[in-house]
Amino acid sequence: MKIMQLIDGKKTSADIKAEIAAEVAEMVAAGKRRPHLAAILVGHDGGSETYVANKVKSCAECGFESSLIRFEDDITEAELLDKVRELNEDDSVDGFIVQLPLPKHISEQKVIEAIDYRKDVDGFHPINAGRMAIGLPCFVSATPAGILELLARYGIDTKGKHCVVLGRSNIVGRPVAELMMQKRTPGNCTVTIVHSATPNIAEITRNADIIIAAIGKPAFLKADMVKEGAVVIDVGTTRVPDASRKSGFRLSGDVDFNEVAPKCSFITPVPGGVGPMTICSLMKNTLIAAKHTVY
Ligand code: GUN
Repeated sequence: MKIMQLIDGKKTSADIKAEIAAEVAEMVAAGKRRPHLAAILVGHDGGSETYVANKVKSCAECGFESSLIRFEDDITEAELLDKVRELNEDDSVDGFIVQLPLPKHISEQKVIEAIDYRKDVDGFHPINAGRMAIGLPCFVSATPAGILELLARYGIDTKGKHCVVLGRSNIVGRPVAELMMQKRTPGNCTVTIVHSATPNIAEITRNADIIIAAIGKPAFLKADMVKEGAVVIDVGTTRVPDASRKSGFRLSGDVDFNEVAPKCSFITPVPGGVGPMTICSLMKNTLIAAKHTVY
């Protein structure tokens, strides 16, 4: 039996950022301007503040220009939509994101649909979601793109394999299932999606060569649900109370790591697996936006 290999998302993400920075240095040497990502942050939500700060920091690591546009949470929907339209028109901005969640009085869907899909580096616009589903050039949202990047970089064979996705969310389960099914590498899998209404989840996951767990239930996937030699990708990042930590919580994945890891050929840890890959995918999308290859 082959020894289990840990998939290091932290290192992979650092490698990719270094590759992007090298490409940006070449662009700049050739007289082109640096890719420019703008982020709109509404209010002062702690999680959102951290995410956006990390995005700005990653831009600097990649050699991008970045702009952080802040509004208080009493901004009206009309004012926010005006800003989105202004960024759509601003030729100095290659791509931008509106950090979610937004205050209750603003429709997130309306805001997302107002973004020019050619600058929608989050890949949340229905045009990007639809194009991705039928395999056209588009911005793929960050978490699914990060998962495929890990499978590619670890040389994991996916063709003809049975991939079971736990969860059907619009941002992870659904798109990652679509990508794993498409005729390309990584991909070309037989895909099954299981969700809260699936009665025999363990029976199905036991048949999986690749399991992608994205249901947000800490330690849901147990050893008896996984076959020997499976590849397990853990997307869960639930905050569970932990008095021994300064923060008062720790991140828990959807996989019972200690139980499941010994059975796997490859497994992602939490933290340090899929998580660090998401910002890196956003940086990749920004570079693509700057090259104008999605139109
Ligand atoms: N909130 C949590 N994750 C994300 C993300 O990937 N993009 C945006 N815009 N907001 C988020």
